[in-house]
Amino acid sequence: MDKRPIGIFDSGLGGLTALSALRELMPEENIVYFADTARNPYGTRTPEQLRRMAKENLAFLAGFGVKAVIAACGTMSTNALDVLHGSEIPVINVLEPSVSAMAGSEGDAPLAVIATEASIRSGGYTRALEKACPGREVIALACQEFVWLCENGHTAPDDPAVIEAVARCLAPLKREKPSALLLGCTHFGLIAEAIRNELGARVELVSASECASRACKTLLEANGLTGGSGREALYTSGSLQDFEQKAEHFLHRPVKAHYGSAGE
Ligand code: DGL
Repeated sequence: MDKRPIGIFDSGLGGLTALSALRELMPEENIVYFADTARNPYGTRTPEQLRRMAKENLAFLAGFGVKAVIAACGTMSTNALDVLHGSEIPVINVLEPSVSAMAGSEGDAPLAVIATEASIRSGGYTRALEKACPGREVIALACQEFVWLCENGHTAPDDPAVIEAVARCLAPLKREKPSALLLGCTHFGLIAEAIRNELGARVELVSASECASRACKTLLEANGLTGGSGREALYTSGSLQDFEQKAEHFLHRPVKAHYGSAGE
């Protein structure tokens, strides 16, 4: 029995898709969530900035005595993987478990991934998918605009701004008829329904957040680290009221946030 909390961080609301997936799988765990909203978006930053910020976010969560961390951010997972791997605290990234899940996609149609500009530019997802799925064509598309939509409260599947952006951004991918699409940015889980409506049910959507949450459960169980009392503390480096309101909308329950900052 290990009651220390699990830390989760992201640039804002996207990591809540990992928090809610983890809650379903491990309702008894204590969780500290850090939304680095003041520095959002991460997806337009350089690898150097992202590596520094990854270290800062890990140090911030280490201050809570966490037993493990989910880096619920594709941008960090692709640009600062060595930083995450090098941490003394076990860190689960979203890249490796989600690529493993994609490798289970049958058939010979292309595999697709959508993520932030920095994630796609790094080539991290493409390289990992090509290695895990030899012979399959991999289509990688940056959809940075989706992050702005989510952070600004545009997530509903019938929101005209969401419908328009999803149709426009995914048009090149839709033409290629992929068998599976990896939501390689955790924010994209917030608009998964709109994405599903646009691409149709035949395209399997793989959520990087859900894959990372399952990997976290496996890791904790394998190392005898499970336990807790279902407590939750949420921190944001941005506006408390704004974060609380948007987090409540997604989680469908009251949210109390605190101010926290990992860097300048
Ligand atoms: N949700 C993060 C990701 O998975 C960061 C998005 C952003 O801030 O650009 O990449």
